[in-house]
Amino acid sequence: MGYLAGTIIKKNKENPMASERHSWMLILLTIFVLTINSSAAESGGIAVYWGQNNGDGSLTSTCETGNYKIVILAFLHVFGCGRTPQWNFAGHCGDWSPCTKLQPEIQYCQQKGIKVFLSLGGAAGSYSLCSPQDANEVANYLYQNFLIGQDGPLGSVSLDGIDFDIEGGSNLYWDNLAKELDALRQQNEYFHLSAAPQCFFPDYYLDKAIKTGLFDDVFVQFYNNPPCQYSSGNTALLFNSWNQWTSYVLPNNTVFLGLPAAPDAAPSGGYIPPEVLISEVLPYVKQTPNYGGVMLWDRYRDVLSRHSDQIKNHVSNYALRFVRAVSDAIYPDGSAALRHIQKKPY
Ligand SMILES: *[C@@H]1O[C@H](CO)[C@@H](O)[C@H](O)[C@H]1NC(C)=O
Repeated sequence: MGYLAGTIIKKNKENPMASERHSWMLILLTIFVLTINSSAAESGGIAVYWGQNNGDGSLTSTCETGNYKIVILAFLHVFGCGRTPQWNFAGHCGDWSPCTKLQPEIQYCQQKGIKVFLSLGGAAGSYSLCSPQDANEVANYLYQNFLIGQDGPLGSVSLDGIDFDIEGGSNLYWDNLAKELDALRQQNEYFHLSAAPQCFFPDYYLDKAIKTGLFDDVFVQFYNNPPCQYSSGNTALLFNSWNQWTSYVLPNNTVFLGLPAAPDAAPSGGYIPPEVLISEVLPYVKQTPNYGGVMLWDRYRDVLSRHSDQIKNHVSNYALRFVRAVSDAIYPDGSAALRHIQKKPY
């Protein structure tokens, strides 16, 4: 970013004949690129689920790779309707809580700029909400224990988000939980809310919650769902579903392409080999304004397959947006934004 701006200014200096209008354009271009780059930094990363297999390796080693922008701890799988909350982190914390040994690892990830979320639910567990009041109680439990640095089962941590991976139980009151958590994040420190619906549309458990518009990140699972996933050589069902999801959510809800990190991570399919992902799928989905990146299930399979190593340089939409910004600046007639900033008639 700084390098690009420096290059532009240097080129300008080498040409003392550059008109005043030209210099003005270059300054605008620099501002434009900086703005676009900072917004692109928000999107186009990899999110990964961690915690369902000891083969994940430690949270620290996961974050050390530098491959991920979000790591999602999976799962708090027992909660609601008066249940005592419990999680399943495979063997990472022994059989049961507390798991305060994760505190320094979570903080290590956060210091590297990686967001750490806690995921609620999962494919196996005992969870549901019994009433709006129950949603309020669960929201407060999550807030007090994981989101504001108070002592809790993971130590004194301020996680960056709460993920809803609701795949069982009842479909009631998840919208209430999202609204309660949203009210809490407005009070003090902002944290993300995310949802991981199945691609099959609309999602039975999460649709009502997704309609609140409160999920910053929507990790759609384009796997184990043959009607809406990739199958060898065929991107049509996947792209239809992608378009449906990205136009369904609000523009400020970014959508992640949720994929298995290896074929065996999703017994009912959806795996996309890296070369297909890079040459066919990412160039298509990255054009969507609310594209957020790629979500991988899960860290363990990614350790074995090195999927994220192979795709990480292709997930960001930065390059594409940069080219557009430059061409808009060179051909300002094509850019309403620049016209607006310059307040000059063309
Ligand atoms: C998205 O924008 C709507 C307003 O259009 C707002 O109500 C909602 O809170 C926003 N969602 C997020 C995740 O910022």
